[in-house]
Amino acid sequence: MHRLKLPLLHLLLLTAAAAIWSPPLITASSASPPVKFPVDGTVLELNDSNIDDAIASIDNLLVDFYAPWCGHCKRLSPELDVAAPVLAKWDVPIVIAKLDADKYTKIRYKYRVQGYPTLKLFMHGVPVDYEGPRKAESLIKQLRKFVIPDVSLLESDSAIDNFVLAAGKQFPIFIGFGLNETVIGSLAWKYKEKSGFAVARGFSEEVMVKYGFDKVPALVSIHPGYNEQHVFYGPFEDDFVEDYIRQNQLPLSFPLNVDILKQVGEEKREVVLTIVDDVSDEKSLKLIRTLKSAASANRDLLFSYVGVKQWEAFTDTFDVNKNTKLPRLVVWDGNEKYFLVAGLESLDEEDQGSQISRFLEGYRAGQTIAKKWVK
Ligand SMILES: *[C@@H]1O[C@H](CO)[C@@H](O)[C@H](O)[C@H]1NC(C)=O
Ligand SMILES: *[C@@H]1O[C@H](CO)[C@@H](O)[C@H](O)[C@H]1NC(C)=O
Repeated sequence: MHRLKLPLLHLLLLTAAAAIWSPPLITASSASPPVKFPVDGTVLELNDSNIDDAIASIDNLLVDFYAPWCGHCKRLSPELDVAAPVLAKWDVPIVIAKLDADKYTKIRYKYRVQGYPTLKLFMHGVPVDYEGPRKAESLIKQLRKFVIPDVSLLESDSAIDNFVLAAGKQFPIFIGFGLNETVIGSLAWKYKEKSGFAVARGFSEEVMVKYGFDKVPALVSIHPGYNEQHVFYGPFEDDFVEDYIRQNQLPLSFPLNVDILKQVGEEKREVVLTIVDDVSDEKSLKLIRTLKSAASANRDLLFSYVGVKQWEAFTDTFDVNKNTKLPRLVVWDGNEKYFLVAGLESLDEEDQGSQISRFLEGYRAGQTIAKKWVK
């Protein structure tokens, strides 16, 4: 009895105190106008005396810790001004604020700000580092992922199409058909920054054809930016499902560029990197299709390609110069090390499929020459 009573009393006291002292909180459902921190679509300028208050009273607060002298900060600032009114109108609004962390050193240490600008999203007081894109439009899209439900429920064909369209082209999406959402719930939470998740309840046979599955349950991964989709029929146990989600974060084979570099660096898989002269010429496009088939049979490796014409500064680091015969194939660790396979440093034009197979066999058999980036 005693143990039960105490927390109840405590709770009552807290409620009474809150009724008297707390300012109106800004919440999704709150109809009363916010008093202390207006959600009017402007970027709040915080300081050391009110930031803790703001974090405590605003459900979703994105804080830009900046320094007045930093160039990246100056470029970010107008983007935040554009994003703020959009985020303020959402049914689950996000408020944007900024704080001069160069001036308020205590705050800088308290919130572990290590560079400028640092963006942190405080959701119910819990900080999450925001490391996504910083242009207004993509920032808005990315932040949307934080506030929409982790797994969307799609009840019709058109809901499925709308979900795919709204997801944009930057990230993979995963749709469970005839799959209980609890199967992907916790994984959706874990991967939601980089992926979209949904389960479909009502769908027609056309949908089955369109998304390439012929029985349920099925988990379909879609890479809208690369016209790619794959089906997983189980087993629907955490480890297997997570492996599938992880493997499908990147498409089967993808062009290497600055945007995707960070993601490649975070991957444990090594990269079979094909260096061509120009990724858009006819011969390269044919090779890229061949690489895709090789990739689907070798999911323990990533497959990527890059053109000297597209990104010479990068291909230079692999010691590619005017005299190098292209296409060149290397296995790259995503960092500064890579391997050549002895006797298959470059591809001939004929039958590239079997040359790639021999390359992979050679790599797996350890017939390699270790190299380091040229700087
Ligand atoms: C912090 O900002 C608030 C709101 O703009 C202002 O009233 C207060 O005086 C500021 N405090 C300091 C120490 O600058
Ligand atoms: C999903 O699974 C949970 C727990 O296993 C269950 O309670 C729930 O009813 C299921 N939902 C559907 C739609 O089958």
